[in-house]
Amino acid sequence: NEGALWGGRFASGPAAAMAALSKSTHFDWALAPYDVRASKAHAKVLHRAGLLSDADFQAMTAGLQRLAADVASGAFGPAKSDEDVHGALERGLIERAGPEVGGRLRAGRSRNDQVATLFRMWLRDAARRIAAGLLDVVDALAGQAAAHPAAVMPGKTHLQAAQPVLLAHHLLAHAHPLLRDVQRLQDFDKRAAVSPYGSGALAGSSLGLDPDAIAADLGFDSAAENSIDATSSRDFAAEAAFVLAMIGVDLSRMAEEIIIWTTPEFSYATLADEWSTGSSIMPQKKNPDVSELTRGKSGRLIGNLTGLLATLKAQPLAYNRDLQEDKEPVFDSVAQLEMLLPAIIGLISTLRFHEERMAELAPAGYTLATDIAEWLVRQGVAFRIAHEAAGACVRAAESRGAALEELTDEEFAAIDPNLTPQVREVLTVQGSIASRSARGGTAGDRVSEQLTGVRAEVEAL
Ligand code: ARG
Repeated sequence: NEGALWGGRFASGPAAAMAALSKSTHFDWALAPYDVRASKAHAKVLHRAGLLSDADFQAMTAGLQRLAADVASGAFGPAKSDEDVHGALERGLIERAGPEVGGRLRAGRSRNDQVATLFRMWLRDAARRIAAGLLDVVDALAGQAAAHPAAVMPGKTHLQAAQPVLLAHHLLAHAHPLLRDVQRLQDFDKRAAVSPYGSGALAGSSLGLDPDAIAADLGFDSAAENSIDATSSRDFAAEAAFVLAMIGVDLSRMAEEIIIWTTPEFSYATLADEWSTGSSIMPQKKNPDVSELTRGKSGRLIGNLTGLLATLKAQPLAYNRDLQEDKEPVFDSVAQLEMLLPAIIGLISTLRFHEERMAELAPAGYTLATDIAEWLVRQGVAFRIAHEAAGACVRAAESRGAALEELTDEEFAAIDPNLTPQVREVLTVQGSIASRSARGGTAGDRVSEQLTGVRAEVEAL
């Protein structure tokens, strides 16, 4: 078992199928740059603890420096014989600094505290990249909201005509969950910023090494309080997987709407050619694949979260090899989102909205009925009575295929004597929208304040 990190107590190396099962370099190589960085920090504490001579420390640091460059350039990579990234990098260091110096690095650390630390480092960086991408999605939504300040659309509940709203109001309704997801990523980082390095295999280090120094060196806020917890807990990874799944779910809600909006039946919007695909048989097709892949990948992200939780469930303390299964689902969630976010930004920013079409549909389905009821309330009528009267107006209009504003003065008066011709002032989409002027409402001034707020939050986050 030449080059392995263990073997002293074994008469033979592992069976081929054992080695194949055990191997993780095909995915944990992603941790290599972090591993070398952490090794440099580890070399410093070994030196400071008097476990590395000045000369060995210099040789080791130079070797790690060269190794870092070769990992970055791709000149050094995992070999067939390497079990994991940690073993591969020790081999790389020994190749560069010799077995005497290279063989001293591993004192006082275990792959258990190493891998828990490196995974946190990797995830903290990934969370920052995802957050930046999300803010760009919010920016694209804000851009569309700003480009259509007065456009109206049919607001829906149950996907049925409900009340008219501003398109900008609706678009910003997708921005807020994404801003909360960015906050969730930042919140995740507070708990992830604790370093397991120095916890050893589980019980802590006996060599006088300084976990706080390594933690600070690697950009963590502190070193772990409990070495058993530090090497065996992965709630930080599950928390990240949850936030990534939540992002997928939030994006899929928006994607679903874009799919609906761009059908010929709705025709609220048209997709840009660069962000849609065709059919191999039907020449007329223009398909919303970005949105569909978003919807599909959200299922995959949920699967990654639930798979990871299932892996963690009921594991006894401390480290178990089950934990090697922690990385792939989270790496995958990040990789999927990193593919998705630029496409979603392109999709949203190039979507062409058809204002006239949405305006035409905004009052359809008697969406101004609530305005009649609320107008009656302002005349002193009890809402229960007002709701009945407005419902009777809908029934009367529907029975002769008319719109609400097409009811005659006589028809209104017959339904309720309080329904004077003045009711017509609220029977416009513009009037209805302007009347919803309380905080959070769809009135133009409120929505433009909201847009300013969303943009300020993008700057602040
Ligand atoms: N590759 C392992 C992981 O990803 C780390 C190695 C720990 N191995 C061990 N025998 N303790 O978790």
